[in-house]
Amino acid sequence: MQRSILITGCSSGIGQAAAILLKKRGWRVFATARKAADLEQLSALDLEAIHLDVNDSTSIQQSLASVLQKTGGTLDALFNNAGYLQAGAIEDLTRDMMREQFETNVFGSMEMIKYVLPVMRKQGHGRIIQNSSILGIVSIPYCGAYNASKFALEGFCNTLRLELYKSPIHVCIINPGPIVSKLREHALMHYESSLQHEQSGVYKKIYEKMEQSYFKADRKNNALELTPEAVVKKLIHALESSRPHAHYFVGIPAKCMAMLRRLLPDGILDWFMVKVRSGEE
Ligand SMILES: NC(=O)c1ccc[n+]([C@@H]2O[C@H](COP(=O)([O-])OP(=O)(O)OC[C@H]3O[C@@H](n4cnc5c(N)ncnc54)[C@H](OP(=O)(O)O)[C@@H]3O)[C@@H](O)[C@H]2O)c1
Repeated sequence: MQRSILITGCSSGIGQAAAILLKKRGWRVFATARKAADLEQLSALDLEAIHLDVNDSTSIQQSLASVLQKTGGTLDALFNNAGYLQAGAIEDLTRDMMREQFETNVFGSMEMIKYVLPVMRKQGHGRIIQNSSILGIVSIPYCGAYNASKFALEGFCNTLRLELYKSPIHVCIINPGPIVSKLREHALMHYESSLQHEQSGVYKKIYEKMEQSYFKADRKNNALELTPEAVVKKLIHALESSRPHAHYFVGIPAKCMAMLRRLLPDGILDWFMVKVRSGEE
């Protein structure tokens, strides 16, 4: 029997790489995106493209109904991948910016899980894979909204894993470090439509540096930045291994940060993270 997976956020980056590579491995992939042009592009890649905006409950229910209609009521796996990064110092973030960040990164994932769980229970198996980030384990300055959203996902998925402990449904979290994708391009779009006009002025110089480095489309990739395929490798283990892990850290920076979080006292880790961030700017 061909296994099926629904992936959110396949217009680019990790989601698109996952869709392509899993299809090549023989999975039946429902690749979702929210723009017509992206759906056409996914169909051209010979993927089963379905409209899904995770900010919209109706869209979540309709996309899942469409998948279940095609599979005859089953879905073996869900890869909750859609997300974006709202940049900005906490002092400058508005309630609307935080709400929007949580709508996509947190509530969208939570609602996807709520609707696939009964399907997986009924069929007697299932895998739920959540794309979090190393920023769900450690914090960096000027990414508070994103950090908070990924920490929230960690809490949610860790609880879910305990609640499903005796069930045949596995819950895994992937924590990538820096990956080459459109994350920064999309972060710039959100920055330009929100924070660029609403900032207090306290962090003006920080944002100027961010605009000149972090957001620059032609910036040189960091040598430690991996391609989306590195994430997909872990995703494949989470989906296909008989003993999937609770967490998958992707890349050296993510593995080192996770280890430092365990070993270092807060004061030293804070000093280190501020140093790392000022080096990036
Ligand atoms: N790149 C990294 O360094 C990195 C590191 C750790 C974790 N991650 C996580 O990896 C995941 C994928 O990001 P990426 O790096 O592949 O970046 P990306 O290329 O920007 O991909 C993000 C995807 O999420 C989609 N998305 C955003 N809002 C959505 C919504 N409301 N409904 C449906 N889809 C939506 C985007 O679609 P649109 O094109 O329509 O906006 C896009 O397909 C994210 O959760 C991110 O937090 C990335």
